[in-house]
Amino acid sequence: MSVLRAQVRGVGHYLPDRVVENAEFEKTLDTTDEWIRTRSGIERRHFAAEGETTSQMATAAARAALDDAGMDAGDLDAVIVATSTPDLTFPSAATMVQAQLGMTGGFAFDVQAVCAGFVYALTTANALIVAGQARRVMVIGAETFSRIMDWTDRGTCVLFGDGAGALLLEGGEADGASTDRGILACDLHSDGQYRDILYVDGGVSTDTVGKLRMEGKEVFRHAIEKLAATAHAALDKAGLGADDVSWIVPHQANLRIIKGTAQRMGVGMDRVVVTVPDHGNTSAASIPLALSVARQRGQIKDGDLVVTEAIGGGLAWGSVVLRW
Ligand code: UT7
Repeated sequence: MSVLRAQVRGVGHYLPDRVVENAEFEKTLDTTDEWIRTRSGIERRHFAAEGETTSQMATAAARAALDDAGMDAGDLDAVIVATSTPDLTFPSAATMVQAQLGMTGGFAFDVQAVCAGFVYALTTANALIVAGQARRVMVIGAETFSRIMDWTDRGTCVLFGDGAGALLLEGGEADGASTDRGILACDLHSDGQYRDILYVDGGVSTDTVGKLRMEGKEVFRHAIEKLAATAHAALDKAGLGADDVSWIVPHQANLRIIKGTAQRMGVGMDRVVVTVPDHGNTSAASIPLALSVARQRGQIKDGDLVVTEAIGGGLAWGSVVLRW
């Protein structure tokens, strides 16, 4: 049976120049490089320059993905940006990217599911492509979480970083089999009961800006329980199992969560892409950043089965299974 699959044509990323090592935080906070490394696996992170915005980073990542695909912005039908830190309340970061890329056709919008944003955006892009609403979709995760840090809260500000990653998807004919290239299955969840364990204490309709607040231990507990379950559910939907997985590309929040999830899935760490030591937690940008870095490292090869999984504020979580 011939079906349309959303297939990967290109990938790219952008990281701001400024790199901040853990030791920097020792100067202003009651913390140590050792604590940050052992509790989170993070060693350094990138921070956007003054005046550097989410849409600028997203555009740079999109350009890299277009180069990788050998395509121009004019070839795109849609741009989706997953972000919780847009430049402005409106218009969307995606329309800003559209303008910066010089696209005057197609459509663009943002998706906001915090750290699960890229998985939500991939699922949305897949639905648009399979429904014939768009053929080529640029899916971007981009964040400037440094702007919503409380620099006096050692429990959060040492964990996050800035950056952007982009994946260019195009509809292609396939057999409708689990051996097809492209997105094979998606699995999304949210539960607003847990909205107060990870949130920003401000927003437009409350007339405040706000800073990120997190009950780390609680989020950790949910992550360990929910990530392996959603990844298994997505694999099940695709008619595949853990043994078929070439690479898990997890949301990069904490190395202990990444290891715990891989262990629960029965997948060895030699099949897990890890970038958290160098990027910290870049929220919706972490998975596309990791995908792009993994391609550069020569880890993900054409035909490899890739499982992405993420959880964040909401809580919102999910998983996408794709064959590169
Ligand atoms: O991306 C969205 C999803 N987010 C996540 O997945 C994050 C999930 N949570 C985590 O990654 C971990 O919970 C953290 C890395 C945030 C914290 O690790 P933990 O092992 O859960 O530590 P904890 O919060 O239980 O804190 C242990 C101790 C506390 O001190 P007491 O109460 O035991 O005296 C904290 O006050 O560590 C203290 N602490 C710190 N110490 C030094 C908290 N932050 C720091 C710090 N430096 N930066």
